[in-house]
Amino acid sequence: MNDAAREWIALVCKALNGLRGESGAPIEAAEIVAEVPPKPELGDLAFPMFPYAKRLRKAPGLIAESLVAELERIGGLPGKVSPAGPYVNVRYLVGSVARSVVEEALALGPRYGRTDRLAGERVMVEFSSPNTNKPLHLGHLRNDILGESVSRILKANGADVCKTDLINDRGIHICKSMLAYERFGGGRSPESAGVKSDHFVGDFYVKFNEWAKEDPSAEEAAREMLRRWEAGDGQVRSLWRRMNDWAIKGIEETYRRTGISFDRIYFESETYEAGREEVLKGIASRVFSRDPDGSVWVDLTDVGLDRKVLLRKDGTTVYVTQDIGTAIARRRDYPFDRLIYVVASEQHYHFKVLFNILSRLGFPWAENLHHLSYGMVNLPEGKMKSREGTVVDADDLLDELEGMAAAEIRAKGREEEVGDLAATSRAIALGALNYYLLQVSPSKDMVFDPKESISFVGNTGPYLQYMGTRISSIMRKLDELRSPLGEAEFRPELLAAGDEWELVKLVGALPDVVARAGDELNPSLVAGYLFTLASTFSRYYHDTPVLHNDDPHLTATRVALAKAVGTALRNAFELVGIPFLERM
Ligand code: ARG
Repeated sequence: MNDAAREWIALVCKALNGLRGESGAPIEAAEIVAEVPPKPELGDLAFPMFPYAKRLRKAPGLIAESLVAELERIGGLPGKVSPAGPYVNVRYLVGSVARSVVEEALALGPRYGRTDRLAGERVMVEFSSPNTNKPLHLGHLRNDILGESVSRILKANGADVCKTDLINDRGIHICKSMLAYERFGGGRSPESAGVKSDHFVGDFYVKFNEWAKEDPSAEEAAREMLRRWEAGDGQVRSLWRRMNDWAIKGIEETYRRTGISFDRIYFESETYEAGREEVLKGIASRVFSRDPDGSVWVDLTDVGLDRKVLLRKDGTTVYVTQDIGTAIARRRDYPFDRLIYVVASEQHYHFKVLFNILSRLGFPWAENLHHLSYGMVNLPEGKMKSREGTVVDADDLLDELEGMAAAEIRAKGREEEVGDLAATSRAIALGALNYYLLQVSPSKDMVFDPKESISFVGNTGPYLQYMGTRISSIMRKLDELRSPLGEAEFRPELLAAGDEWELVKLVGALPDVVARAGDELNPSLVAGYLFTLASTFSRYYHDTPVLHNDDPHLTATRVALAKAVGTALRNAFELVGIPFLERM
């Protein structure tokens, strides 16, 4: 809700109480229902009269008429008011709203759009959480930007946010790449091979799978290596450290490239033992039980889930065991009010089980765990499958997008204009990728079309970036004018063109959009907002001269509006990971 709406609610409340006379309790402002009319022609705000029919002993249509009369009697209204059946419609006075919206946007600058909705709340957000046997793929890119964006949106709503990653650095799959390296690596290193270090490790994982297809003993050898790892065998541990360092170093390079960062990193190898301890404690407190073969189970059938193994009969842990240890460690390290796990929808069941186990163990904070589940990402060519090697590698995809962006700049002959071609191409590629991935609701499966995403026209990141450059260019041209604005001042009452009013409302709506995106953990709301803002500005800019008007006050006013649009655009870009460009 904006200031104008609040002002009107107070007025309507006062007028309703005027109609009520002396009878009964006063009507409170909190009781006033205000709606956004379904069509802009109807006005900016609508008040239904149904809620007061009983109190005022009058039909809503009649209340509407006398309310309008009462409002006009009060006078000094910030706009126009009219009865429409059982509703009272209000149209704001453009000038007053425009003044408050534009002045606020310009005064707050990079802080415009923030809210204090979640002030004082501590939220931990886990995302990415890769495995150290492979480099990142397209699914991680969706996960990464979703987690990063949700974190930024929560922060923009005043929350204290701790971004965390959980690195799966142990287990049979990690041993597989180690084993293949021991056998086929010949002591090479990523440096000597000239390969990015996580790819170097991933190639041995692929090699293992090829080898295992020919030789059934490979799987057994991997299990044997895992046993030696668990027993703390020095040689296995040192190979493990060496290869994990390679994998993590490479993964971190990709994070840097995509603008992703974390406040705390957890390693499964450091939390799984704690998970085991908790499970053993849970046997004592009868939350879990041991089968005759020695395995440990939790029975979740009373809540419609299954029986689930927590320790195998040989005492080894399973996936959920480390998650128990990790959650407890996290809550100790950072006493969150809420922990959000950004993980693919395939793991829906896993998180139901995990949350239920933690609440059975008596942790009251288990109520505040949330799985932010997201759908699959495919390429137009079809489903990605990692075992068939058709998985879309994150670095390759980024290279491809950067190449496409550079080609587009060259095709338009704009190399001179952009200056640093490589940096601009990187920014465009990232804007294209992040916007495309976030414009869809997280829960939906999606198809990522690289070509479509990078297009400079249509509903794309580069199109939004282009609108940002238009505004920057207006400001540059303004500086080049001989006497920029002189004495001319911002006079919001001069904003009369239809799109100007739309733009004012859109800029004014940013805090509401940020609040809703935070409530729903849904960056696609910010993405949708950006597209509306950019396309409205595009139309406006096409039809209306911003810099060249006979009235210098009109120029100053339009420049201020364009600056406010630029501020809203830039701040919303930041929330969804779209780099703002001065030129492209
Ligand atoms: N490393 C896991 C995987 O690749 C995802 C981990 C998700 N997070 C968690 N706390 N279990 O499937």
